[in-house]
Amino acid sequence: MFPIEKFRSLPTPFYFYDVALFRRTAQAALSEAQKYGYIIHYALKANANEKLLHLLSGMGFGADCVSGAEVQRAIDCGFSPKSIAFAGVGKRDDEICLGIDHRIFSFNCESEQEIEVINELAKAKGVVAQAALRINPNVDAHTHAHITTGLDENKFGINLWQLLDVAKKVKQMSNLKLVCIHFHIGSQITEFSPFAELCAKVNELQEQLEQAGVTVEHVNVGGGLGVDYEHPAENSIPEFAAYFATLNRHIKLRPGQKLHCELGRSIAAQCGSLITKCLYVKELQKKNFVVVDAGMTDLIRPALYGAYHKIENITPQHAAEKVYDVVGPICESSDTFDKDVTLPQTQRGDLMAIRTAGAYGEVMASRYNLRQLPKAFFSDEV
Ligand code: LLP
Repeated sequence: MFPIEKFRSLPTPFYFYDVALFRRTAQAALSEAQKYGYIIHYALKANANEKLLHLLSGMGFGADCVSGAEVQRAIDCGFSPKSIAFAGVGKRDDEICLGIDHRIFSFNCESEQEIEVINELAKAKGVVAQAALRINPNVDAHTHAHITTGLDENKFGINLWQLLDVAKKVKQMSNLKLVCIHFHIGSQITEFSPFAELCAKVNELQEQLEQAGVTVEHVNVGGGLGVDYEHPAENSIPEFAAYFATLNRHIKLRPGQKLHCELGRSIAAQCGSLITKCLYVKELQKKNFVVVDAGMTDLIRPALYGAYHKIENITPQHAAEKVYDVVGPICESSDTFDKDVTLPQTQRGDLMAIRTAGAYGEVMASRYNLRQLPKAFFSDEV
């Protein structure tokens, strides 16, 4: 599936995106959402590559942003400001002003103080901004602790005990219109029960809010649908049908109320691979190491979360296999992509693909050790 001969002339390490798969994945998500009239705001934080964003905006996706720069990138790449949800616990004033000036769909507000600040900034501009309350539903997503967001102990959102007071307060604000309630319980969620649980919570909260005289036109359940890191080839398109069917089965929308979600990883992960070259093979008494030219600066997920990414030697191979630790060149022991991986016997110069790296890969790259940021290449351009 990889154009190996073409790869030989490209500077490693680099990200390679399978554009046809990206399109098919996005189309699958859209078609399943459209069955129920649901709206997808693609979460730019997963991958903000301009070419991919242009594709998504052209297909009719909305955008979910978490910084002013992401809001600007979304607009530059063709997303309608009316489709932009802007979340984040720490929005700066200038970032809020950017959103106000563009009349974005919603500020997903995460604290009482933020609500006051947005109201003041909107008032100064003589504008009524649209707000969503990001509610922390205290639902366990059963995923990695670093990417669980919906528990009381997390910094995100407005806690349940504050909700009614805060909602009533927003209703009294002159320059903020409450249009939506927003939730996000975590990422890389591979079971459907946490989503069902979230829906039950949404139903309960909607009733409480209505009893307090608060109604909203929109419900946003955030992102989180996981992907299969173990079997990227077999499960290249995530289970969108089951995800949206779960939402549809469990959520009770009011007449005319619209459901939104913010998928990131499930749209972008499987179409991207980090392509790297074997620099050295170290065969020691206790271990064999393959030292590659990509490091944690290019893909930090294994070092940061202990995340698994399938590694393949994509150079046509000799049959014999060996067990290796695949490591990068950075001066940190955590710069290890995986341990005890069975690979065809690997040699200096072999090209390797680190799979399922299209989400939270390129966007999380850093220049630690003064390394260059990895470039991106696309299947329809190389
Ligand atoms: N909406 C909100 C409010 C979020 O915080 C996130 C992700 C999403 C949507 C998109 O979630 P997704 O559909 O991609 O699961 N860097 C970590 C993932 C961090 C996710 C942060 N929030 C990783 O590499 O696993």
